[in-house]
Amino acid sequence: MKILAFETSCDDTAVALVESGTNIIAQKRVSQTDHEAWGGVVPEIAARLHAENWYAVLENVLSDANIKIKDIDSLAVTQGPGLQTSLLTGTTAASFLSLCYQKPLIPVHHIHGHLCSIYLERTQDDIKFPSLVLTVSGGHTNLYWWHSPTNFESLGKTLDDACGEAFDKLAKMLGLGYPGGPVVSQRATLGNRLSFDLPRIYLEPDSLDFSFSGLKAACRRIIDEQAKITNTFINNICASFELAVLRIFKKKIERAIAKHPNAMQLHFVGGVSANTYLRSELSSFLQQYGICLLTPSKIEYSTDNAAMIGAAAYFLQAKDPSCAKVQMVEANPRLIMKN
Ligand code: KG4
Ligand code: ZN
Repeated sequence: MKILAFETSCDDTAVALVESGTNIIAQKRVSQTDHEAWGGVVPEIAARLHAENWYAVLENVLSDANIKIKDIDSLAVTQGPGLQTSLLTGTTAASFLSLCYQKPLIPVHHIHGHLCSIYLERTQDDIKFPSLVLTVSGGHTNLYWWHSPTNFESLGKTLDDACGEAFDKLAKMLGLGYPGGPVVSQRATLGNRLSFDLPRIYLEPDSLDFSFSGLKAACRRIIDEQAKITNTFINNICASFELAVLRIFKKKIERAIAKHPNAMQLHFVGGVSANTYLRSELSSFLQQYGICLLTPSKIEYSTDNAAMIGAAAYFLQAKDPSCAKVQMVEANPRLIMKN
């Protein structure tokens, strides 16, 4: 089963050809860099670049895979959530191909794609159920309890900023550009994690929800009070910020395991799971519970990519073949994830 998948929900124009939900035959992603100067994604710029790039990205994948569209089995596309103007390129392109080539098209929820990123370049048996999933990106911070590739239950979500957004805002305050995650994490390796005692908001004692706005506001205050922004200061605040994020994740994971002691694995996915410090600290932390941490097999599968959309589509089609039909898929920036 070969699925040609499109992902254009934010600032990456990505296409991939994925076989049986796990094997990537070919993939291409163009990450837009024009947003750097603005400290965040500018929807109009993102829309223009998606429209300019998608066809070349598709041609690249087809030529790498040495395949024609008529020979693929199905198409898949991120329907939402995301930026409306960005989603439109992917949904329009995939719908057009579906109608022209009479190929079934499977709409995918972006977060379901991140959940299924764990399958890429692994065998299906590597993924054990039931497991906990921590999905952390620029737009979402969620905890799920999942029973099968298409059956998951939401345990908690952020009540304000997403964690990746907090990384991005800290970078913006420090003049480090966009996206913030990679540069903050690189600066953090040079700093002292105990320099600033930043707030860790755990919410009510049994809450599995998240809140990052207090952490962001505390960073703002410290930066505003600083007479001179030196490299040492930047490194130290980035390091302390990462430690605060780690402590929040550990607390929520501890609570989630208390509620679900039969969890087989903990999957850490989404853009923030590209963070090597968080990956390694969470992996050691989980040893005491006998639970193994699983992250996407390559760092590049943590951040937005089309292969994860192809993986999710494979499982959706396997569960309910009627979801794959020749159709126009409408972009939905506020799409709700359903089981
Ligand atoms: O999943 P993703 O590519 O897009 C969304 O669905 O939002 O996640 C992007 C987010 C950005 O906020 C970015 O700063 C963050 O992931 N990110 C990181 C790292 N790499 C990307 N955050 C922390 N450490 C990283 N190494
Ligand atoms: Zn994402």
